[in-house]
Order: sequence, then C-alpha cells, then structure tokens
Amino acid sequence: MQKIGVLTSGGDAPGMNAAVRAVVRKAIYHGVEVVGIKRGFAGFIEGDMAPMNRSSVADIIQRGGTVLRTSRSEEFRTPEGRALAFENVERYGLQGLVVIGGDGSFRGAKLFAEEYDIPVIVIPGTIDNDINGTDYSIGFDTAVNTAVGAIDKIRDTATSHERTFVIEVMGRDSGFIALSAGLAGGAETVIIPEQPVDVDVICKKVSKGFKQGKLHSIIVVAEGAIRGIELAKQIKLQTGFECKPTILGHLLRGGSPTVFDRDLASRMGAKAVELLLSKVSCQMVGTLRGDIIGVDFCEVISVKKPIDLEMYRLVDILAI
Ligand code: F6P
Repeated sequence: MQKIGVLTSGGDAPGMNAAVRAVVRKAIYHGVEVVGIKRGFAGFIEGDMAPMNRSSVADIIQRGGTVLRTSRSEEFRTPEGRALAFENVERYGLQGLVVIGGDGSFRGAKLFAEEYDIPVIVIPGTIDNDINGTDYSIGFDTAVNTAVGAIDKIRDTATSHERTFVIEVMGRDSGFIALSAGLAGGAETVIIPEQPVDVDVICKKVSKGFKQGKLHSIIVVAEGAIRGIELAKQIKLQTGFECKPTILGHLLRGGSPTVFDRDLASRMGAKAVELLLSKVSCQMVGTLRGDIIGVDFCEVISVKKPIDLEMYRLVDILAI
C-alpha cells in the first residue's frame, strides 16, 4: 500500500486531531503517503483533498475540533455521491481510506466499502460513546469532564439558593454522557433514553430530598430522553420549588482533549494504519478492557450499544 486517505466526518469530537496526527505519522513511518480529505464526505465528493506530511499535523495533538474540518453529507448517502467520491479515489491514487466519525459516518463508509474496491477502516470519534464494539470512542472522556466541570459550578449556585437544577447534556438517543457525568458529578437523578422517564417519580424525589434537608437537587438529563426546559417546567409546576434548566449543548464538543482521549486517539490512529497495511477492510478500531483491537464494522452498526444499568441504579443508591 503506497497511498491512503483520511477524513473526519459527523459531529467533531475532541481528540480527532490526535487521531489524524497518528494516522499521518504512522503511515509516513511505514513509507505510505497520506492525502487529507477536507470537510468529511462532502470534501471527498468535491475533491477537496491535499497531500499531508509530518509537519501538517504538528501542534495539533492538544487542539479540539478537527483541522480537516467535518460535515454531515446528505449527498454521500446517494449512490451518485459515492460514485463522485470514488472518482477522487482514482484521481489521487488512494489504496486505502481511514474514516474518523460516529455511526452515521460508519454507515456511509460501509456502503462505500461494499460498492468499491478500496479497503476502509473506521475509527470511533464521537462524544456520544454510543458505538457498539468499543468501550470508548474518541471525545467521550473530554465531553464528560467538561460536563462534570459545569455540574460542579452549577452546584455552587444550587446550594447557595437551595434550588433544583436540570442540566441537559448531548448524546443524541443515548445516555452514556448523562450517566457518566451524573455519577461523577454526584447528581441526585440521571435521566437517560434507555430507561422510562416518570416525571411524577422525579418530582417526589425532589420534594423528599428537600424535606430530608438537602440543600439542592441536581438532575442530569440526556437530550434524547426529555428536553431539560420541559422537565424543569413540569418540576416547578408539580413541586412548587424553583427549578432552573441549563443546556450544555455544543459546549461539550469543544476544548482541548483529555490525556485519556489523546492516548486513545493516538493508539487508534496507529492501529488503523496497521490494519490497512495488513490488508484487511471493513474493520473498526475499538478498545476493549484497555486493548486496541479491530472489529468487523458491519456487526458494530447493526447492534445498539447496551448501557450499564448497574451504574444507572448506583446513581439512585448514592443519592439517598
Ligand atoms: O453526535 C454528536 C452530537 O453532538 C450529538 O450528541 C448531538 O445530538 C448532535 O451531534 C448534534 O449535532 P449538530 O452539531 O449537527 O447539531
């Protein structure tokens, strides 16, 4: 293999740059040229691509976002869009492709690998951590740390004013960020899409907490379960207690990646190149119990990642 392409796709995630750096440097180490594809699949279709060298990835390991930039391409969902992208594979002489992104990007990558004769390796890069077959995806740890930092700050106000706060976090239709941030942030309640939402039970818990002498109540809610603004309104209505919503939103996607994410991204990027060099295709790089492994990404896409319900119950136990 002499030349490969790399792109980042979908929502940006802190650590994507560290992964790009690892792909580029590991490939160069093995004498393989790398072409950077800008703006995800959109740039792939348009031929917005340029050769990369070791200095194109200097000074980026600590930066959030993605220097390659990213997009959610509707056109790549169509056979015509993918055909245009393949023309650029031929134009640039690419013999392998690394896609860094979330499950939507993996679906596009899967179709492309099935339709065209080019090995494709995907790396999970999403704050949501909702990808089956890997314990962690790049960006999750940073996002959870950002969320916990915000919860700690909000707790100061919640205690001073004896208030209830509903803190909404991203995660699309999964609750991994909410659960980890809620447990680590000492929340009284965590609400995730994987479990039924019972507003009456939540309200009773808030009232009971104040009766017991608690000075505040922190509720962490995943955006896919119920909207924070709506929940805060209902709590205020039913309990009579003041309840303020805070939406963390895209704040969780930004910032310098944690050591964990830089380490994970560096190891995953290097592994992706190793997989391409060993002539495999349609694999996702994953991490299981600390090991970096290759997994068939058709299996990954078809199964929803299970959430740890023991951890979910622990939030309640520790909030007594
Ligand atoms: O998948 C990452 C993510 O941040 C989700 O948590 C969120 O629902 C979505 O992307 C938001 O996407 P956009 O930035 O396109 O609005």
